[in-house]
Amino acid sequence: MSAPRKILVTSALPYANGAIHLGHLVEYIQTDIWVRFQKMRGHECWYVCADDTHGTPIMLRADKEGITPEALIARVHGEHSRDFAGFHVAFDNYYSTHSEETRFFANDIFGKLKAAGLIEVRPVEQFYDPVKAMFLPDRYIKGECPKCGAKDQYGDSCEVCGAAYAPTDLKNPVSAVSGATPVRKSSDHYFFKLSDPRCQAFLRRATREVCKTQPEAVNKLQEWLGTEGENRLTDWDISRDAPYFGFEIPGEDGKGTGKYFYVWLDAPIGYFGSLKHLAARTPQIDVAAFTDKAAALKAGTELYHFIGKDILYFHALFWPAELEHAGYRIPTSVYAHGFLTVDGQKMSKSRGTFITAESYLKQGLNPEWLRYYYAAKLSATMEDIDLSLDDFIARVNSDLVGKYVNIASRCAGFIHKRFDGALALASSDLLSDAQAAGESIAALYEAREFGKALREVMALADRANQFVNDNAPWELAKKAGAEAQLHAVCSEALNLFRLLTIYLKPVLPKLAADVEAFLKVAPLAWSDAARLLPGGHRIGEYKHLATRVERRQIDALVEANKESLAPSPAPQAHSQQRHAEHQQHAEEKTAVSLISIDDFTKVDLRIARIASAEHVEGAEKLIKLTLDLGTETRTVFAGIKSAYDPATLTGRLTVMVANLAPRKMKFGLSEGMVLAASGDGPGIFLLSPDSGAQPGMRVK
Ligand code: MSP
Ligand code: ZN
Repeated sequence: MSAPRKILVTSALPYANGAIHLGHLVEYIQTDIWVRFQKMRGHECWYVCADDTHGTPIMLRADKEGITPEALIARVHGEHSRDFAGFHVAFDNYYSTHSEETRFFANDIFGKLKAAGLIEVRPVEQFYDPVKAMFLPDRYIKGECPKCGAKDQYGDSCEVCGAAYAPTDLKNPVSAVSGATPVRKSSDHYFFKLSDPRCQAFLRRATREVCKTQPEAVNKLQEWLGTEGENRLTDWDISRDAPYFGFEIPGEDGKGTGKYFYVWLDAPIGYFGSLKHLAARTPQIDVAAFTDKAAALKAGTELYHFIGKDILYFHALFWPAELEHAGYRIPTSVYAHGFLTVDGQKMSKSRGTFITAESYLKQGLNPEWLRYYYAAKLSATMEDIDLSLDDFIARVNSDLVGKYVNIASRCAGFIHKRFDGALALASSDLLSDAQAAGESIAALYEAREFGKALREVMALADRANQFVNDNAPWELAKKAGAEAQLHAVCSEALNLFRLLTIYLKPVLPKLAADVEAFLKVAPLAWSDAARLLPGGHRIGEYKHLATRVERRQIDALVEANKESLAPSPAPQAHSQQRHAEHQQHAEEKTAVSLISIDDFTKVDLRIARIASAEHVEGAEKLIKLTLDLGTETRTVFAGIKSAYDPATLTGRLTVMVANLAPRKMKFGLSEGMVLAASGDGPGIFLLSPDSGAQPGMRVK
């Protein structure tokens, strides 16, 4: 084999204020399988992760529990580590962003960006809670929707009519932290100048490279960047005012600035913090070879970030731009996966499908069932993956128990009882085929096509079972003079079983370890597929390797995760929180009274033809619009039901905001918004262009 590769792999850092659930596990299991595969191939591969510990939610959560943020993140670190270990996710290091190593890299990167002229300070006006004496992120402000008047809406968008707005547009705003009426207040913020031509030019080149295996991701990035000459990226607000749980931004001559790095600034830097912490106890690791641009090039190291599609923006735009201009190496690739649905729907607490890792293990379910099922469903795309509970039971039982384990359970006993545990020398076309399949299965693992890899493995398992059926060792065992044939058949089957174990080991590490013990072999590496077990090799006694999933276990799991529909306290709503976290740009648009023409042109207004309009089951104010933009169609939920009958809308032209970040709403994904006028009285008035305008035309 050629020289071992040097690879650093990360999974996104989970927030330190929530439990690990089955959605998260898609990512950690996917990454763990890929890392285990690389290690089995003999490469030097390091898998690091950490808790993402900074930010307002964690500070307020600790406050509410009456403990320090440090105590909160220490407790959650214990819970997360336990859950990951329970699912055999084997990080080489699981650390915390609240660490000196991460602070070191944050300061270093910030200092270098500053020296490069890419940091700017300018005032931002935001809502401020005079009682708590703190600036309020959007999600901590509630009030009446400026569009439909619905009460109790969050600061960034209305759950009733779907309108998006700045928190300062809310009527009768209140702070969700103290209940006080917030006031507007200005303070200085640090910005990373993404609008700088250097960043724009770099990202246009680099993002294609970083996302090259995922055309869907490249398209998204092109959309965010706009076409050549357009400057769609706004500068990124990377600071927050005290009180904040995070790292203070260093000022000149060693003094602090009283400002803190925004959590998303130090979160990805935490990858390197975790590596540095690992390196302190692993002399083999040269940190610079993985982080420094020149050193990484020289050493030929690789860096891969596994993430969910919701945080692509941070990893494929902000992060590489920071790294590049601070003299750090950029990721070799960012690998984005889709979101988990359960039985075709978003995970739901009321349906009992918001399943925590802890509850799964507590119910006594085997973590390798889930690892196998996810692997069977995973591909290299950003498509969502569905955990269908019926399919889960069927697939695990048929593949793992019915096909794979079945081979050993039908043959091992004869070797043990009749041949004193010793195998005969085996060789056959089937065995050669199974050995030869190793390289194509490896290529599929490498390309993150786990579903396809497992289909190949199961096709081999089918052939192995056919071989056992055809030769019926249980018949041979009763037949006089068939000893040698019985020995040969069982030895061949167990050699096949060993090969399948090699190919399944990245997915099923615990089961593979049990098999290694039973076969009495050293830990299997991928290259072991090139050899078969020698004649005379003694195996151990077969013990039960896997059990079937029972329907009642799944029912009990769902029951245990059911929560009543009691209203949850304001800032805890999960989707809202994610949305707000990832829409932090909204904070910048707060209360700006005058804008430049550049700001205006950032809004991509387009003529759209309403291709269809339909009522939304269960929605009081919404109409679902399908908008034709000439080259593509979009779905938009518009709060115009009180003023329009869907039937009259079809075919007409209107104006839409085409580059609004898509928003997950209760009824589906809304991919933009249509423009309408409204005043204090009733009535909503959709905009129309003059005749002659065509779908897709830009409004400017
Ligand atoms: N803290 C940030 C990541 C910072 S990385 C420098 C964050 N944390 S998270 O806890 O919300 O999510 C961690 C990872 O889990 C993300 O990659 C996210 O996409 C993934 N998932 C969270 N819920 C998920 C599903 N329901 N389905 C699939 N992946 C999901 O984002
Ligand atoms: Zn509204």
